[in-house]
Order: sequence, then C-alpha cells, then structure tokens
Amino acid sequence: MQIHSAIPALRTALQGRGRIVFVPTMGNLHDGHIALMTQARALGDTVVASIFVNRLQFGPNEDFDQYPRTFDADCARLRTAGVDVLFAPTERDLYPEPQEYVVEPPAIQHQLDGEFRPGHFRGVATVVLKLFNIVQPQAALFGKKDYQQLMVLRNMTRQLALPIEIVGGETVRAGDGLALSSRNGYLSPAERSEAPRLYRVLTQLRDAVRAGARDYAALEREASGELDRHGWRTDYVAVRQQTDLQVPQDGNTPLVVLAASRLGSTRLIDNIEI
Ligand code: PAF
Repeated sequence: MQIHSAIPALRTALQGRGRIVFVPTMGNLHDGHIALMTQARALGDTVVASIFVNRLQFGPNEDFDQYPRTFDADCARLRTAGVDVLFAPTERDLYPEPQEYVVEPPAIQHQLDGEFRPGHFRGVATVVLKLFNIVQPQAALFGKKDYQQLMVLRNMTRQLALPIEIVGGETVRAGDGLALSSRNGYLSPAERSEAPRLYRVLTQLRDAVRAGARDYAALEREASGELDRHGWRTDYVAVRQQTDLQVPQDGNTPLVVLAASRLGSTRLIDNIEI
C-alpha cells in the first residue's frame, strides 16, 4: 500500500490507475470501515482510502482534540483489506490557508443532527468535495450509519454534477446490536453495556410501524423517554422519509428512523430503515 500525505505526490500516484474507488475516513478504523474497503474492492481497479480528522466539521465544544488517532494500526488494517493507496494529509497539506470557500448545504443541514451540530454538514461537504477534487474517484463509499451525511453528499454530488457514483455501505454492528463507531471507545464499561439500548429502542419503533402504528410523534416521544429513563440525554428520535429525510407525507414513501442520544459525555447516533 502506498501512503501519501502531499497532494502532488498522490496525484502522480493515481495516474493510469483505471477506475478509482474512494473511501474517505477519519481513521480509528473498525470493522464498519473495513467492510467499506472490501465493498470498494469489488467496484473498481484501485481502492484509495483517506484518513483525515477534519477540524471543519467539529464544533468548538466537540471532540476534535480527543478524537482517537491510531495511524499505525489503521495502516495495518488497510493493508490487510487490500487498499492500494492511502491519502493521509496533514492539516497543512489539506488546509494550507484558511478554507474560506465552503460548500453550504441546503436546509437539511440545520435539521436532525444539524440542529445539534451547527456547521457540521458544511464542514463535511467542504472536505469531501475537496477530497473528491484531489482523488478524482469514479465511485465513493460512505456508511449508512451516518445516514444524513450520506444523503447530503449524494445530493451534493448530483447537484454539482460530479462524475462520481455514491455508494452506501450497510451499518456493521457488534453482537449485541451496537453500531460500530470510533466514538464507542469513549464509553466506560457500564456505558458500553447500556449502549445497545439505542438499537433496541429503534428496532421496537420500527416493529411498531411495521405492525401498523402511524402516530409517529407518539412513537418518537416513547422511544426518547425510554432512553432518558435509562440515563441517556436524547437529542432526537425521528421517523423520516428515506428519500429526503422530511417528515412522512403519505403512506407510500419508505421510512427510516434516526436517533442521536448522549450516554455520559458520548454522543451516539444510529438509524434503521423501515
Ligand atoms: O464519516 C466520516 O468519517 C467523515 O465525516 C468524512 C466523510 C470522512 C469526512 O470527514
């Protein structure tokens, strides 16, 4: 696996490589990331991964400094997964001057996670567009665990006519249902055993909708109350349309239930398609 931090060296390394499939990450790789790398292998000739903890998408009181950086272990996992090229820029490589030109996503950036993480999706869209311009992939993969991120990036790619196929990867879960996330590492042992409740609550809500329940607001309140009774502080539980993440309008659009909640100081998100 080649590793490059400088943009010109990466560009040279990617010449004549056929169809490039790109998996951007912030590192601290888990099986969910590795599943994306494996999926990427089957979609093209060259798999490029990136590791960059993007300051632009963290709020001032969020975990940018604390975010786990495990570069050597990540490289070993990427090699085993058959990744061809790793782009691991420093902040100076990617942001040699203040990033004043940014991608401003539409209203969806202020909803759901965006309501609680102002500026987050602007930071994500900006770095991903920049990474796309550097790597120039034909396809890119993002995990469905960050459902709203996947939608924002899919819409950005379509509206800006980027010649890139955006592919979603299924969420990978621990045996007890907890969605894999780099932030799970922040959980104390007691919090780790409580954490699968988030997935259980979402599956209960999904089952209720499947069984015919249609009072989504009541289901959301019930799910959020169930979490909070067990010591969580819930930002939202929301039943939305898969296509645009808006409140369900009619009975025919496929739905997704999304949640974000805090256990101690750790904020976890998850979702299930209904
Ligand atoms: O999902 C992530 O890890 C990040 O948001 C991404 C897409 C790599 C952009 O920094």
